[in-house]
Amino acid sequence: MSLMLRFVLAFIVLSSLLLKSFAKNCSSYSFSGNRTFALCRDLPQLSSQLHWNYEQATGKLDLACRHGRINSSIGNWFAWAINPNNNLQNSMIGAQALVAIWQSHGTTRVYTSPISGYDTSLAKGTIAYNVSGLSATHWGNEIIIFATLMLPSGTTTLVHLWQEGTLSDSMPEMHDMSSANLNAKERLDLVTGQALAV
Ligand SMILES: *[C@@H]1O[C@H](CO)[C@@H](O)[C@H](O)[C@H]1NC(C)=O
Ligand SMILES: *[C@@H]1O[C@H](CO)[C@@H](O)[C@H](O)[C@H]1NC(C)=O
Ligand SMILES: *[C@@H]1O[C@H](CO)[C@@H](O)[C@H](O)[C@H]1NC(C)=O
Ligand SMILES: *[C@@H]1O[C@H](CO)[C@@H](O)[C@H](O)[C@H]1NC(C)=O
Repeated sequence: MSLMLRFVLAFIVLSSLLLKSFAKNCSSYSFSGNRTFALCRDLPQLSSQLHWNYEQATGKLDLACRHGRINSSIGNWFAWAINPNNNLQNSMIGAQALVAIWQSHGTTRVYTSPISGYDTSLAKGTIAYNVSGLSATHWGNEIIIFATLMLPSGTTTLVHLWQEGTLSDSMPEMHDMSSANLNAKERLDLVTGQALAV
């Protein structure tokens, strides 16, 4: 086999692996280390999935949010957030975010950020929920944020949002304003796993 052909075949296999990891079927995804989540959702925008376990009585939400659009040559930021005001229309204002940053020449950083305005630079800060086990893993063009959040006990639905963007000097830059970016939000029933109509 020619070197070129081998290269092309290897490339096809690699691309199909990368694409397959984001086939629109979150339930077929297995996390490493035997971590399992009872519910999952293929989010409608920006190649993302939410996987979670939820105890309604205590409000304990154990989650993993996967995102498959990291540009591995330059790095990106990815964030997943809850809007505690339940405001789907202006969900960004007041959002309580988990932010992950991956740079090609650095380690993965992950932290919490409360968002008070559209001019946010996603600075690190305390959010309105108790958070434990916050971590992020990166491989290829994928990043996964893991965390356990304590929601008000009895919570059933929440407005959640997710977003991606580029970096400048390792700091998050404003996200694009495409319809995919602007529609990366929904009202979610944590118990059934279904998104609700506005
Ligand atoms: C998704 O994956 C699960 C587990 O592999 C499988 O049982 C199910 O049939 C798949 N659903 C679709 C729509 O492909
Ligand atoms: C995952 O489960 C298998 C089979 O139950 C076990 O042998 C293995 O040690 C587990 N791995 C981790 C990281 O827990
Ligand atoms: C990654 O970033 C580089 C540099 O900005 C750009 O040329 C390239 O098109 C990007 N790749 C993707 C898949 O967006
Ligand atoms: C957060 O956790 C701490 C320590 O477990 C606890 O004392 C505190 O009441 C919790 N706060 C909220 C808002 O749940």
